[in-house]
This record gives sequence, C-alpha cells and structure tokens, in this order.
Amino acid sequence: MSRERVSPQYGDGTRVVAAGQPPAVAGEPFRPGPVFAAPYHLGPDTRFYARNENPTWSAFEQALGALEGGPAVVFPSGMAAASAVLQSVLRPGDRVVVPSDGYYQVRGVLAEELPWYEVVTVPTAEVAGWAGEGGLAGATLVLVETPSNPGLDVCDLAAVTAAAQAAGCLVAVDNTMATPLGQRPLDFGVDFSLASDTKALTGHSDLVLGHVACRDAERAARLLAWRTRTGVVPGPFEVWLAHRSLGTLDLRLHRQATNARALAEALSGHPAIGGLRYPWLAEDPAHDLATAQMLRPSGVVVFDLADEAAVDAFLAASRLALAATSFGGLHTTVDRRARWGDAVAPGFVRVSCGVEDTADLVADFVAAADSLGSRP
Ligand SMILES: Cc1ncc(COP(=O)(O)O)c(C=O)c1O
Repeated sequence: MSRERVSPQYGDGTRVVAAGQPPAVAGEPFRPGPVFAAPYHLGPDTRFYARNENPTWSAFEQALGALEGGPAVVFPSGMAAASAVLQSVLRPGDRVVVPSDGYYQVRGVLAEELPWYEVVTVPTAEVAGWAGEGGLAGATLVLVETPSNPGLDVCDLAAVTAAAQAAGCLVAVDNTMATPLGQRPLDFGVDFSLASDTKALTGHSDLVLGHVACRDAERAARLLAWRTRTGVVPGPFEVWLAHRSLGTLDLRLHRQATNARALAEALSGHPAIGGLRYPWLAEDPAHDLATAQMLRPSGVVVFDLADEAAVDAFLAASRLALAATSFGGLHTTVDRRARWGDAVAPGFVRVSCGVEDTADLVADFVAAADSLGSRP
C-alpha cells in the first residue's frame, strides 16, 4: 500500500486517492481488478477459501483502516456491520443502549431478530448527559449515531466515551452520515466505528455495503471470526467498486456540503418551510458540538413542509430533486421520512444534497418552495 501518502501529514484529497493502493509496478494497472474466487489453489500458508479472506476486501479494508485510524472489517451492508457489532459483543441478557431517534432498523433487528438482549433507547441529544449521570451502569454496549438520521442531532462522543469507560461499557458509533473524513470516532476512544457505506462513503447509489473499524486488533479479529462463521460476506465486485469510489470522497463531500449550506441558508425562514436543521448553521442547536467534534460538514439538510401533499407538490415542482430514500449520493434526493415510520411530522423531509451545481440547486429548490405558498 502507498502508506506514506495516507499518513496524516497529507490532506484528505491526497489520502483517499492513495488509500489501499498497491505500490507502483511497471506494466501493472494502478489497482488490480476484483478477485473472484471460492477456493484458492492450496499451498503452504496460502489463502484457502474466499469466505475467510479475499484480496479485494483486504485492499479496501486497508484503505478504510488508514482513514479511520484502526483495523477495519468490511460487511455486505450497514445493517450487517451493525449486526456484527451487536452479536459479537453481546450475550443473551446483556443490556444494550441504542438511539430512540436513529436509523430505525437498528431497533428493528434488536426487536425482531435478537430479542434476547435488554434494549434501552435514549434520544441522541440526551445520551451524553444521561450517560454522565450513571445511565450506563450495567450496560455492555452503547451504540450512538451522530449526526443522527434523520433528525441531525449530535452526540458528544468524548462525554459518552468517558462515561462508558467508567461504567465498563463498550461504545459503538454509527458514523454513516459523517464518513471517516467528517469524524473519526476512534480518536475519541470509541471501540467501534461502523457505517453504511451504501451512503456517502461510496456515493454513487449503485451498491450496498458497510464496515466496522475497531480501536484494537483483538476486536477486529473477533468481528472477522463472526463474519467467517456466519458467512455474512460482501461480493468482491461491490467492494472493488466501493474502493474505486473512495478516491473521489473528498471532492464529493466538499460539493455536497457546499450545496447543503447554500440550500439551508436559502430556505431557512422561507414561508413554506419550518423546522430546518443543518448543524453547520450558527443558529442550529447542534452547531457548537458539531463544529467542535467533526472535521467537516456533511450534505444532509432536513425540514418540514406542511404535510404529505406539500411534499408531493414540492417534488412535482422541482426539476432536480429525485424522490428516493438513502442519502449521500451524487444525485440530490428528497425523502419523506414518515413514509418509513420515523417519528416525525408527515411533511418532514430529508434532503440529501448531491454534487450538482450549487446555483442550479438553490434556484430549483427556492422555486419549488415558492410554488407552495405559506405553511398554514
Ligand atoms: C445511519 C444508518 N445506519 C445504518 C444504515 C443501514 O445501512 P444499509 O442500508 O447499508 O444496510 C442506514 C441505512 O439507511 C443508516 O442510515
């Protein structure tokens, strides 16, 4: 790997291009193609079976590990990554703390597939204070999501980690929204940084993937054993595509954040819009914590339109917004979250800014909002 170019002395753009790249060899491609294998030819001390290991995974894991600051394990989805952390750490009867307002399937998998844990749910904005008052006593694992999806609340990672260490509890952070360029949870003493790489990390809306980075090698080895035994393994082609996409992460995040800030500023106070949240606006309740804890802004803005009909009218009036769930991709998308059962108002939308031209996007969104008239 081009380790020297991934070291912290370089900027993010340099590091993502170099991450996981093999050394330059005359006549060879910059990066080998995906390795498709089930068994490998046997020999002394060689790879033997592709559920255990695959060189395409290893290259991507090296890249992620360099960006996260700890050994990484790739999984076939963000939910597989979250499930791997839960199942490799917890034993029946253990207490686990998860966000009441984070990605809903984390609560879903615990309720429906893993009903033998004691689950405590706490809102993202309150978990640090609650943990500081002894809330984690008796808990084995606390999983926080920051910024939270969809509400964009932020959790104080240093405070949660200090309280968890005092209580002998492990900490996992869902870092999907930020990516390792936006926030490095392991630097705060967090044990697991997990993510849905389906979102901004890969950013092209063409694959499903996840990973977990760990503070120590022992926990990574345990996750690897879980992956090998359960067979929850990713396809090499998805991983190869993800690694290819990583090289543009800095560029994409930069444009997405520029677009998000411009939209937030243009739409904040618009008569058709209420409850706008973007943690990098000075007036946002999460602003101080987000700017202190995070390394860069992200590209998601949320707000309320009057109701479901107003969201439909907004989408019909916009020429650039695509109606779609997920976030972090190249295309600007609008998702009405009540559709999926999130505890939000019927007109609450999550806008994931793509990489379109900022002026085009602002003009389009303002025109669509203008077409709605005022909220009642
Ligand atoms: C914050 C967060 N974590 C985890 C997931 C699950 O990821 P995946 O869809 O890749 O399984 C999602 C998906 O939307 C998410 O938003």
